[in-house]
Amino acid sequence: MSVLGEEVTAGLEFPPGFAWGVSTAAFQIEGATTVDGRTDSIWDAFCRRPGAVAGGDTGEPAADHYHRFRDDVALMAELGLGVYRFSLAWSRVRPDGGAVNPAGLDFYERLVDSLLERGITPWATLYHFDLPQALEERGGWAARDTAHRFAEFAASAAERLGDRVPFWSTLNEPWCSAFLGYAKGIHAPGRQEPRAAVAAAHHLLLAHGLGLAEIRRRAPRAQAGITLNLYPVRAEDPSSAADRDAARRVDGLQNRLFLDPVLRGRYPEDLLADLEPFGLGACVRDGDLALIGAPIDQMGINYYRGYEVTGTLRPGVEPGGLEWVGADGIGFVPDTAASVTHSGWFVQPEGLTETLVRVHREYPAVPLYVTENGAAYDDSVRPDGWIDDVERVEFLAAHLRAAHAALAQGVDLRGFSYWSLLDNFEWAEGYSKRFGLVHVDYRTQVRTMKRSAHFYADVIRDNAVPP
Ligand code: NOJ
Repeated sequence: MSVLGEEVTAGLEFPPGFAWGVSTAAFQIEGATTVDGRTDSIWDAFCRRPGAVAGGDTGEPAADHYHRFRDDVALMAELGLGVYRFSLAWSRVRPDGGAVNPAGLDFYERLVDSLLERGITPWATLYHFDLPQALEERGGWAARDTAHRFAEFAASAAERLGDRVPFWSTLNEPWCSAFLGYAKGIHAPGRQEPRAAVAAAHHLLLAHGLGLAEIRRRAPRAQAGITLNLYPVRAEDPSSAADRDAARRVDGLQNRLFLDPVLRGRYPEDLLADLEPFGLGACVRDGDLALIGAPIDQMGINYYRGYEVTGTLRPGVEPGGLEWVGADGIGFVPDTAASVTHSGWFVQPEGLTETLVRVHREYPAVPLYVTENGAAYDDSVRPDGWIDDVERVEFLAAHLRAAHAALAQGVDLRGFSYWSLLDNFEWAEGYSKRFGLVHVDYRTQVRTMKRSAHFYADVIRDNAVPP
C-alpha cells in the first residue's frame, strides 16, 4: 500500500473487541505478606527452606503491589489495556483456609473498583499456586478435603465480587501445582511423592468443578473457566515407536490429563492405564467427572514453549524427569534453530498457533483466551533510564502474529494477555528472572516502562500487530 508516496505496510488486524490484557498473580507481586490478617501460604513456607528459592528470595517485598495498586492501575490505563487478570490470595480471603477475613476481601474490592473506574475489565483467578499453609499441613492437594475448602473460598470471593468481575478462572496451571509441587518438588510445597501428585491433579480438577458451581450460584452472568498451561508435543522421529510413545505420554501428562476431564468429562483411557499404579482411578468418586466436565464459558491457555521428545535418552538430550510416573528414558530434544529466553526456554511462536488450533479442532467448542504468554530477558537499565528490551518486543510480536495465524484458521480466540505487567517473583527463580513490560527496581519500587510496554500500547491502540 502506498500513502503519499510512502510505503506503508498494513498491520495484521485483530477482531473488533479483542480483549487485550496483562496477567499477574498475588504472591508474585503483592508483598505485604503479614498485613491485614493474611497468613502463610505454602510459598511463604517454601521460601524459608534453605536452597528452595534462588537467592533466598521471598514474597517480600515483591512489587509491593498491595500498597501501590493504584499506581499500577494507572500504568495499565496508560497502556490502554482492556483486561487485567490477577489472582486472589486465598490466605488473605480465608486465613489458614478458615473463616472469611473481610479485610482481605476489601483489598480486592478496592482493586476491582479502581480498575472499573479506569474502564479496565477485571479477570479474577482464584488459585494461582498459593494454598494456605494450614491446609497443606492437613494434607494439601493430596487430600480431597482441600477441594471442598477451595469451594468455600470460591463462594466467598464470588459473593463479594461477583457483581463486578465478569471473568473468573478457578485455577491457574493445575499441572504446575500438582507435578512441580508434589512430584518434582521444585515448587511449594516441595514434596516428591508421585502418588500424592496424581491425587493432587484430581483434587485440583475437583476443586475446579466445585468452585465453578459456587461461581455460577453467585455470579450467574460470569464468564467462568480455567487456565491450563499447554504445549505442542512432537515425536522427534515419528517413524520410531519409542518416540511416538514418549510423545503420547508427555502430551498425556501435560495436556490431556486436564483438557479431557474439563472439556469431555472423562480421563483418557491411556492415562488411566499409565497412572493406575499411582492411584488415579482410585481417587475418582461418583459424580466427580460430571462436576469437572460441567460446561465452561471460556478456556484460558498459557503458552510459553513446545516439546520435541524422544524415547531414547542420549547426550545432549534433556532428561524428561518422568521416571516418577514410570516413564523412563524420555527426553526433550533441544531446538537448535530457536533462540532461548533468560529462563532457558526455546522461542517457538509457531507452537502457539499449533496449540490453539489443536484445542479448537479436537475439543468441543469453547471461546479461547491466551491468558499468558511472555518471556524473561536480562533487561538492563541504560544510564538515561531507557530499557531497550528489543528481544521481548520481538518475542511478543512473533507470538501475536502466531495468535493472528490461529484466528485466520478459524480459532475462536477472544483475547491475549501478556505475562506480566511488572517484573515479579518468578517462583523458584526468585527475582532473578524479569518478565515485565514494566521494570521494577526492587530497592526503590520505582516502575519504568520498557520499550516492550510502548510496543504493546501501540498494538492495543491499533488493534493490530506489525506484519
Ligand atoms: C506461568 C505462571 O502462571 C506464572 O506464575 C509464571 O510466572 C509464568 N508462567 C512464567 O514462568
